[in-house]
Amino acid sequence: MSELLVLSGPNLDQLGIRSPEIYGTQTLGQHIERASHVAAEFGLTIRHLQSNDESVLIEALHKARGSAAGIIFNAGALTHTSWALSDALAIFDGPSVEVHLSNPAAREPYRHVSTLASVVSGSIAGFGGLSYELAVRAVAALLA
Ligand code: DQA
Repeated sequence: MSELLVLSGPNLDQLGIRSPEIYGTQTLGQHIERASHVAAEFGLTIRHLQSNDESVLIEALHKARGSAAGIIFNAGALTHTSWALSDALAIFDGPSVEVHLSNPAAREPYRHVSTLASVVSGSIAGFGGLSYELAVRAVAALLA
């Protein structure tokens, strides 16, 4: 298996126009393109799915077991509320990285909780356009 599943949750399809002072001006497509280039350095490919629907994300996490080598997940605001996503990610048996463009720990108190933190291999947050690239490098290192 050499495919990484990159999952993007609600509102991340709006990157580029959404609060650029917080999330930057790059689109999700641009983040994924950069991540794909970095993945190729390690002989990995990326399959990306963005959804605004929690159940679609859960189904994707279920299917990842046995088909993806690793998972990179930006669950957007569901990070702070969804124990269902946390349970679904816990079923995955490979390395996984929680990623955020901003640094939720430095923002509003409701963003300080992550339901994913306890089930991922590690978290990367606050590096803007670098966050996805760092997440790919982290998963690749864990797979090596
Ligand atoms: C985010 C941080 C979340 O708190 C927020 O709800 C998002 C984006 C990030 O990438 O910084 O949608 O996950």
